[in-house]
Amino acid sequence: MNLLSSFTELTPVEYQTRWKSPSNIAFVKYWGKRGIQLPANPSLSLTLKECVTDTFVKFTPSESFKLELMLDGKETHSFSKKMAKFLESLTDLPWLNKLSIKIETNNSFPHGAGIASSASGMSAFALCLTDYLFHLKSSNLDFFQVASYLSRLGSGSACRSIYGGFTTWGDESDFYSSKIEVHSKFLQLKDTILIISSEEKSVSSTLGHGRMDDHPFSEARFTQGKNNFDKMKVALLSGDLWKMGEILECEALSLHAMMLTSPKPYTLLKPNSLTIIDMIWKFRKETKLPLFFTLDAGPNLHLIYPESEQNKIKTFITRELSLFVERYIDDELGLGPTKC
Ligand code: DP6
Repeated sequence: MNLLSSFTELTPVEYQTRWKSPSNIAFVKYWGKRGIQLPANPSLSLTLKECVTDTFVKFTPSESFKLELMLDGKETHSFSKKMAKFLESLTDLPWLNKLSIKIETNNSFPHGAGIASSASGMSAFALCLTDYLFHLKSSNLDFFQVASYLSRLGSGSACRSIYGGFTTWGDESDFYSSKIEVHSKFLQLKDTILIISSEEKSVSSTLGHGRMDDHPFSEARFTQGKNNFDKMKVALLSGDLWKMGEILECEALSLHAMMLTSPKPYTLLKPNSLTIIDMIWKFRKETKLPLFFTLDAGPNLHLIYPESEQNKIKTFITRELSLFVERYIDDELGLGPTKC
């Protein structure tokens, strides 16, 4: 499937646009790829509300390709490199070579806070680019499907940031994400993000995906991911909070187990990540409160719990867990990107 083929022969004009797009946290993880940015197993995520990237893009016709990118007011080599590589990969849009592209992008969360910005950053830029495509040529294609398709090419997890609420990737399509309906119980979920370390990761997610290629457990993991995906969808639809939590933690631990057992083993966990996991399990046993965790591809924990139980859980976080973290960010389920 190629959602860009109808935009191949366009004549660029000057245009500017601005989109704000959120990050997301995977409840079922995408870990391992095939082909060009296609997932080895389906994934499912909750869209965040507060962790967003605000991106302004100005496209100007030019003799040759130019890219100017400012992240939080500064030139940032690594993100510029990732963006240039992404734009170069869009060979279906050869006229991009005749543009000067100026990007100003700002994250709501502090730079170096240990929060992955590629999902929000890539989806915000993809929305701006989709806006430009639809400005250059009216199309019967679905705007958000094209934006999700482009986001995926920039960073896989970014394709799930387009719709708000809960989204899946690799179920309806491997090429873009779709929104799914869930029980009303899950529309009030909180996510307190515990930043355990804001140091740069020793192995990036992109390299981590690559290590699944010759991993002895890759097939078992992809099957587990698919089974957890099916079970997670049932739990979310039926309102089964405890089943959701069980699968959520299984996915987080399995992701990190893949890193520990890969042919070139590594871990992104820190001692405090494990201390907090242990404290959560103890707290849950003693209080019977539905507090669950998941991990991104790093040491930081996302604490997932319903708003209805937030008083006692927030007290536990601020009095006990906060002693083991650099900082924490209160987030919750969000409704998706907005055009500014
Ligand atoms: C652990 O989307 O960052 O967060 O496609 O190479 O850019 P690339 O990788 P990325 O991988 C995310 C991995 C994850 C799980 C997930 O979000 O599903």
